[in-house]
Amino acid sequence: MDDYSPTRNLIIEALEQNGDYEAKEAKDGSEAIDFLQKDHYDMVITDVMMPVMNGMELLQSLREKNIQIPVIMMTSRPAVDLTVSAMKSGVVDFLQKPFDLDNLLFKVGLYLQEEEGQGKTARDAEIALREEREQLSLKSLVYEAVEKAVGDNDEIFQTIVELAVKIVNAESCSLLLYDREYKKFYPKAQKGDDYGYYGANNVTTLNDIFQQAVNTKDAVMVHSDSDPFISPSMICAPLLIRGAVLGVLAVRKRRNSGIFTKSDLQQILTLAKRASLNLENKILYDTIYENMTSTLMALVTSVQARDHYTEEHSGRVTEFSVQIADALGLSDAEKETLRIAGLLHDIGKIAIPDNVLLKPGKLTFEEYEIIKTHPVIGDEILSHIPLLDAERKIVRYHHERWDGRGYPDGLSGNDIPFLARMMAVADSYDAMTSDRPYRKGFSSDEAILELQRNKGTQFDGHLVDVFVGVLAKENPSS
Ligand SMILES: [Fe+2]
Repeated sequence: MDDYSPTRNLIIEALEQNGDYEAKEAKDGSEAIDFLQKDHYDMVITDVMMPVMNGMELLQSLREKNIQIPVIMMTSRPAVDLTVSAMKSGVVDFLQKPFDLDNLLFKVGLYLQEEEGQGKTARDAEIALREEREQLSLKSLVYEAVEKAVGDNDEIFQTIVELAVKIVNAESCSLLLYDREYKKFYPKAQKGDDYGYYGANNVTTLNDIFQQAVNTKDAVMVHSDSDPFISPSMICAPLLIRGAVLGVLAVRKRRNSGIFTKSDLQQILTLAKRASLNLENKILYDTIYENMTSTLMALVTSVQARDHYTEEHSGRVTEFSVQIADALGLSDAEKETLRIAGLLHDIGKIAIPDNVLLKPGKLTFEEYEIIKTHPVIGDEILSHIPLLDAERKIVRYHHERWDGRGYPDGLSGNDIPFLARMMAVADSYDAMTSDRPYRKGFSSDEAILELQRNKGTQFDGHLVDVFVGVLAKENPSS
């Protein structure tokens, strides 16, 4: 029961249509108690927050009236103390709102099945219940793990097969990708000694089972005493990405030689769905990232086509920045940020007119003011591209000064993002040592002296020291 009627309708619908259960809704705890006293029910699903009688009061009332029934409690904010006291009062499980209906159905199925199994002594029943609960918490963990699996696709595939084996106590599992054009299956990951892994395309029975899962987009369970590739049972579930079959997950017979049950089938299906969701998110993310990178490269190329200096300069600034990052032991993620930002730091120059950007002589005050808009323009360009927040900061702040006299925002000291301060040192060094049409560049030693002279005014002094150390190591004679 839940005081919000659309939620109730959703749950009732799911239970009746997908789970084939009979369900009745109550608007609060006291109405539920009335129902429970009149008729027999197998389970209560309740919200914590309800008017008249809330979820915890309902539990207490059930206990006082000696009504023994499993309770699944829904909550949007699972607090530890509430969880503990609810568990003590007979709640068998929690669902965090907003919950997914698959998970609800899975939990209901599991506890109702558990109820049926309790024909023996109270002691046996209690042991069985405890084991089931341990199993359940293991399963919840497994589902969570498959949703959160990280790494490249191969690692995620491997995690999926290992979790599948664990969740239904299987002997082996294979994950095979499906080639729609040739109707073939390509093994990608395996756990245990699995025939499916080696011979899907050569063993007709296996191929037929896999193909059935592909065609129906649903899990298939088969039992056979004689077929060595199946005996005694196998489950095959499709992995779907945006409705298309990416591949199949095939799990073979139980270790203890039992056969798979309907509940195993349900669990593999749930696992496959969740794994698909994870892969889908990841693949979408990869695609976005790829699109984004090519958009950026197009921008970078268009700046570089006008101004050859920017191209070489960006490459060197990136290299110097990453060297400083290495010397400081920064993470791979930070170095990746520096690489992208190094390429992009002057992207705003795309909007600077040729007569200013490419002027061979010294700039007038006004022209210099125009040049000084490039960090803000760069920031603005990147604001339209997702996932580049860290890079944008570097682009915007790479001309700020430690003493606050830089541009565009006049930030000072530690208010300037760390990676931007780092790039400022690398950027200035490279600008000083480069030959321009209107002046010859400094030697490395001269530029180093200039960096050191401006420690604490233009630059973060510590970063100058680190960079000078990097340069000295690279070129010990200077
Ligand atoms: Fe710049």
